[in-house]
Parts: sequence; structure tokens; C-alpha cells
Amino acid sequence: MEKLSLPKSKIKVLLLENIHKSAVELFKRNGYSNVESLKDALDADELKARLKDVHIIGIRSRTKLTKDVLASAEKLLTVGCFCIGTNQVDLECAKRLGIPVFNAPYSNTRSVAELVLAEIVMLFRGIPQRSWGAHEGEWDKTVKGAREIRGKIIGIVGYGHIGTQLSIIAEALGMQVRFYDVEEKLALGNAVPCRSLDELLAISDVVTLHVPETPETKNMINAAKFKKMKKGAFFINASRGTVVNIPALADAVKSGHVAGAAVDVFPKEPAGLNEKFKSPLQGLRNVILTPHIGGSTEEAQANIGGEVAEKLVKYSDNGSTPGAVNFVEVALPPQSDTTRFMHIHRDEPGVMARIAEVFSKREINIAGQYLRTDGEIGYVVTDVMGRVKVGAGIRKDLAAIPGTVRTRFLYEAPPK
Ligand code: NAI
Repeated sequence: MEKLSLPKSKIKVLLLENIHKSAVELFKRNGYSNVESLKDALDADELKARLKDVHIIGIRSRTKLTKDVLASAEKLLTVGCFCIGTNQVDLECAKRLGIPVFNAPYSNTRSVAELVLAEIVMLFRGIPQRSWGAHEGEWDKTVKGAREIRGKIIGIVGYGHIGTQLSIIAEALGMQVRFYDVEEKLALGNAVPCRSLDELLAISDVVTLHVPETPETKNMINAAKFKKMKKGAFFINASRGTVVNIPALADAVKSGHVAGAAVDVFPKEPAGLNEKFKSPLQGLRNVILTPHIGGSTEEAQANIGGEVAEKLVKYSDNGSTPGAVNFVEVALPPQSDTTRFMHIHRDEPGVMARIAEVFSKREINIAGQYLRTDGEIGYVVTDVMGRVKVGAGIRKDLAAIPGTVRTRFLYEAPPK
């Protein structure tokens, strides 16, 4: 029987930074027995030494996969960032080396939506200032300014994963949902789109931001936009710190035009426990300040473990790359009666013809081919009919094609 280029038991998985056990469980369920999970991050030298025989690495934000580290990781097939951000990895370099990088952008969607909803309730009841007061011995039982959220208008800016999730749960509590998005979006439930941001600002009792960080969203909410908000409305930002001009928000709160706010993300956030957090919003009693924890829940961590491990397994098993942040996306169902090869190459003319030739000269029939290119690299997965002689000959020929970055034999058809 022909051997797979890499049987699962030989694929070494290294998980760093205390990644949730859901990831280990998923690898094991899928037949990956060689999984090591470490509590801490590793520095560059330790990483280089460890990565020599690692095929799949899982990291969070503290492990830096620089050009230097990646270049020394000869066996590395793929990288999983068990978090949202991927700037700890040199993505361009990984791409050129034929290493897809995956992350988990949506595992904490629900966590953010829940926190925002809770903050809306707290703000409408004036809880931040009353809690603060109670800690200091005040006993303020006034009803004035304490309101239910039922029937109030929530204006959601950015109707993506989080915005839509929030839309559903806010409506379930009786809020009227209005939203604004630069893209055409399907309104869920009874939600109604606004034609412009200004229209949304003018009608909402609470405005909440769920947009990405882009040049267009930088300082999107500034002094002029706060003026456009309804007097006495609330404001929430749990998206990205650069979207809001914080001194302008502080002014709007101090003047009473904005009745209260909840802010989770800031233009400048402390790098670690040793750095002090400073913001013009500190000391304002009707402002809830949280240290960028909108998506940080135990459930989200478990979801991230499963989501990223699943993407890594799908890539390793079938060559599928959907969700890769630095790589062309090829999604392919596994076929039952074919043998599958993958080939990553520099995107230059003639490579596909040479790949076809490797099979045709052996009279092997190609059953299907999936190719994507991005001008820099090309990625093709080739299914050939049945169970063919897939020994070193084919792989050697594929590897010898000029422009090849890497090639692998993924699985073989079962015997008839
Ligand atoms: P998403 O990509 O699913 O949705 C973003 C939406 O904003 C899209 O529908 C997009 O069309 C829209 N959009 C883009 N530019 C816009 C503009 N100028 N005006 C109006 N709409 C615009 O993203 P998702 O997952 O919903 O995340 C939203 C934000 O939340 C991101 O910035 C993300 O970084 C942040 N986030 C914060 C967390 C926290 O811990 N506080 C945790 C998770 C995400």
C-alpha cells in the first residue's frame, strides 16, 4: 500500500499560550494524536528550536512569528492564531512560504452583543453613577432619568456579525432597531435601515458602533457627529478605539448632550498590566469604562479553540483554505474515490501545464482541479481518479516544477 506523504500520527501539532482544551479535543477527535499544548509563549530562539519538527502551530497574541522564525520552520504547514488579531505573524512571508494562517474572527460575536445589551440597560437606568454613589455612601433613589429600554430606539452602526446579533437580542427585549451600514444588508426581524449615519444619529436613543477599523471609520464619530445625536441619548463603542474622538465624547458627556456612555476600546490601550490606563473619560460617573473585554468570555475562548482547530484540520486533511487571512481561498469537499494532491507555487505562467503533464505522462486521469491565484502565489488542489501509484515519483516530479513552493499528497482513494 502506498504511504500518505504525512500520516496523521506523524503530524506534530504544537499549541502555545494556554489555548483552550477544546482545540486539543478537536485535533484528537480527528485522529491527530501528536498534540502538545504549552501554557506559555516562547521567545524567538525557543520557537526556532521547537519549530524544527512542528507541522501545525497554534498561537495567541504573544508569540511572534517573524520572517526569521518562519524561515527556520522547515516543516511548518499552517498556523492557527487562536484569537482575532493576526499582526503577530508576518503574513506576507508566511504566504510566500506557502503557509496559510487562520484565525477566529467571529467566535466572540455573541459575547460582545451581550455586553452591549447589558450596558444599554445599565445606562438607561443610570446605574453607573448610582453604583458609584452607593460605594461612596449615597442613597439616590430618584426615578428621574431611570428608564426601561422597551420601545426605545437603538441605532446600530455597522450591521455585520455583531451588529446583527445585537439587533436580534435588542428586539427580543422590545427595542426598535435602526441600523446604518455602508453595504446593502438584509434587515433582520423588524429592524429598519437608515439611509445615512446622520439620520441614524438624529433618531436613536442609544447609538452603538460595530464597524471595523478602516481609513473611512477613523474618527468617524467626532464633535460634529455628537452634535447630530439626539439630546440625552446614550453612546456605546465596543468596536475599535480609532473610530471615536474621545476628547469630543468627553465634552459631549460633560455638556449633558450625551447622557451617558460605555466604552470598551480606546485609541491608545495599555500594552500590559504594568502600563497605566489614561483617558479623558476617567472620572465621568455616567460613563462605563471597560478594558477591551467585549469579546473576552470563557465561552468565546472555547469557541475560538474549536473554530481555529477545525480550520487547521480541514486544511491539513483536505487542503481547504476558507478563512485563511493571507491565502487564496479554495474550498473543496473531500471526494471518496479519488486521490488528492496539493501544489502551492509562485503565480507564473506554465505551472498548471506542467502539473497536468506529471499526471498525463503516467496516464492518470484528473478528476477535478481547484485553482486560485492572487498574482503572487497560486494554489491548486488536484483530484486524480481512483487509487493511483502515488509514491515518491509523482511527488518528486511535482516538487521539481519550476516555481513550486511546496506540494503534498493529502489522501488516497480507499482500496476497491
Ligand atoms: P463585521 O465585519 O462582521 O461587520 C462590520 C460591519 O461594518 C460590516 O457590515 C461593514 O459593511 C460595516 N461597515 C464598514 N465600514 C462602515 C462604515 N464606514 N459605516 C457603516 N458601516 C460600516 O465585524 P464584526 O465581527 O461585527 O465586528 C465589528 C467590530 O467589533 C470590529 O471592529 C471588531 O474589531 C470589533 N470587535 C471588538 C471586540 C471587543 O472585544 N470589544 C471583540 C470582537 C470584535
